[in-house]
Amino acid sequence: MAEEKSLEELAAEAEHLREQIRHHNYRYYVLDAPEISDAEYDALMRRLEALEREHPEVATPDSPTRRVGAAPAEKFGVVQHRRPMLSLSNALSAEEMIEFDKRIKRLLRSEADIEYVAEIKLDGLAVELVYEDGVFKVGSTRGDGYNGEDVTPNLRTIRSIPLKLHASGGHRVPRLLEVRGEVILPRKAFQKLNEERAAAGEPLFANPRNAAAGSLRQLDPKITARRPLDIFCHSPGVISNGHKYETQWEFLHGIKALGLKINPESRLCRSIDEVLAYWERITAKRDELPYEADGVVAKVNSFALQEQLGEVSRSPRWAIAYKFKAQQAETRVNKIVVYVGRIGSLTPVAQLEPVQLAGVTISNASLHNLDEIRRKDVREGDTVLLERAGDVIPYVVRVTKHGHPRKPPFQMPRQCPVCGSAIVHEEGEVAYFCVNVNCPARMRESIRHFASKNCLDIDGLGDKLVAQLVDKGLVRELGDIYTLRAEQLAQLERMGARSAANVIDSINRSRRTTLDRLINGLGIRHVGEHTARQLAQHFGSIDRLQHASEEELLAVRDIGPEVARSIREYFAEAHNRRALQKLLEHARFEFLPMPEAGGRGPLRDKTVVLTGTLKQWTRTEAERKILAAGGRVSSSVSRKTDFVVAGEEAGSKLRRARELGVKVIDEQELMRMLSQQGAEG
Ligand code: IVH
Repeated sequence: MAEEKSLEELAAEAEHLREQIRHHNYRYYVLDAPEISDAEYDALMRRLEALEREHPEVATPDSPTRRVGAAPAEKFGVVQHRRPMLSLSNALSAEEMIEFDKRIKRLLRSEADIEYVAEIKLDGLAVELVYEDGVFKVGSTRGDGYNGEDVTPNLRTIRSIPLKLHASGGHRVPRLLEVRGEVILPRKAFQKLNEERAAAGEPLFANPRNAAAGSLRQLDPKITARRPLDIFCHSPGVISNGHKYETQWEFLHGIKALGLKINPESRLCRSIDEVLAYWERITAKRDELPYEADGVVAKVNSFALQEQLGEVSRSPRWAIAYKFKAQQAETRVNKIVVYVGRIGSLTPVAQLEPVQLAGVTISNASLHNLDEIRRKDVREGDTVLLERAGDVIPYVVRVTKHGHPRKPPFQMPRQCPVCGSAIVHEEGEVAYFCVNVNCPARMRESIRHFASKNCLDIDGLGDKLVAQLVDKGLVRELGDIYTLRAEQLAQLERMGARSAANVIDSINRSRRTTLDRLINGLGIRHVGEHTARQLAQHFGSIDRLQHASEEELLAVRDIGPEVARSIREYFAEAHNRRALQKLLEHARFEFLPMPEAGGRGPLRDKTVVLTGTLKQWTRTEAERKILAAGGRVSSSVSRKTDFVVAGEEAGSKLRRARELGVKVIDEQELMRMLSQQGAEG
């Protein structure tokens, strides 16, 4: 036994560890320049965790071990901004920028060139962070500029927001430091999030900004913690009893030295011409930026001059946003139609007079939901402005000309446009649903999903064939697929005897499958590939899954209340049970053994999390290989995780792993582990 340490010694040791970890977090998350290896970092984190666990009295609320912790809130509190959060006026051309510069010189009665800081205008969500004596106390959204929402627990989950600032560069930490910044969701993370949502039948986010806002405005910080949000700090609020910054440029570098993250693209410009050149340069590389930006902000560098210039109608006279030229086109909305998705949700879509936009012909644009249509007041016959930013799908910005005579506002149909059944809408929800589980539109989508690669993988059962099968009444529910005969198929359009036989072959082959593929194939809301696998592993049979109570479902790894409820609802529906029964009777599935956790193999009983982009395999391939080697794949990193496989551009999960001291390996290492299978298995 080591000699007993006094409480003071332990507290000092904990504080020393916290300081080291904060320093390395800063190197890693803010500067992107780590000084120590992951293993060394892990060791520090583990020591601190152990110390705080064994001696809770030395733990502190600002400890790096305590990012996620707060319980879900009922609603957000209100935070009053000590100084209002202003907005920026816009310039749309170089002429307007030159005009802006001239006005400033006029107001200052000066001919001399004005120094500006040029920054990227990030398309995210404005927040304010309040630090008291260097400790992150309160974080809020912009709100109406005067009062915002208290989102402190959510902001604490963002790794690039330090929970504690550190004095450096000869500057002490101010008594009070308010900084404003932009919370963003990087483009890649946005795409991934939407892919996951699509697979689980959840509504998609229209753009990264909405996704960032939706992620930050979560009552449950655990959900926020799963989204790889990032921040760039860009402006001061109230700062007291600290170094007095004279310029924006000095401020940016000052807060960077305190541990806050600033955008590395910002530049000091000696004149408006340099700002214009900066805009040209950023415009050229805008699509390569890992996040969405909608322009460049020019700010008068000197705070003294800023003060002299003041503000008008809540916009400062000393700053302006020079917007990027959007890739835009105008066209007419011929019709607004409603698409019915797999789970019966209705999506309004504008059918457009075809138009060229950034090299692609556009004839449809999703209007997302009724709220969105109402807000923009888009009606049939109107001319609309379409826009395409980066790699995001084109969307309707606004109506530019009313049709005449103007059509009445769009209404969600009361009856399903495809089957005529009632449409339901829950109070306070944006989504509308067709109630008919047999709706042909839903059926088409359901079959497409059922037959897709990650489900029953029925080759040849493509969109055109599915549409014909449903329209001709040959397939009214999933089970009908397995009673189809080659002669029936051969009579359909674009089908010969040969292709009909091939499809029947694929259908027959799909009878040998694994339970997770079938569960995924059922198309239960919120149940995608990953959840299906967890369910299959946990319950082992459709019968047990079907009869599982909500409580039993909640006991399954990674399954929360929403998913559990959705599964219960699915099986509570008599029609679904009957259809499933028929499917099982007709298909007579032969379930192949699911590569089971706890089985043999080099990854026996290991829980693995995949993150980032893998090069050798797709996610699904990697997951299957891990399962085949006896491991488990989980979607979130916890203390129970054995290791994290980090691909390129790994984000929050990698960080979480580092914080928790979970082992991190790369793809090569995973391949090495898997290749030991032969030796053991
Ligand atoms: S400065 C008065 N800098 O744009 C100064 N704002 O319309 C206002 N924004 O709500 C903030 N990137 O959230 C500033 N580099 C940047 C910015 C930026 C994005 C947002 C900001 C604000 C809005 C102003």
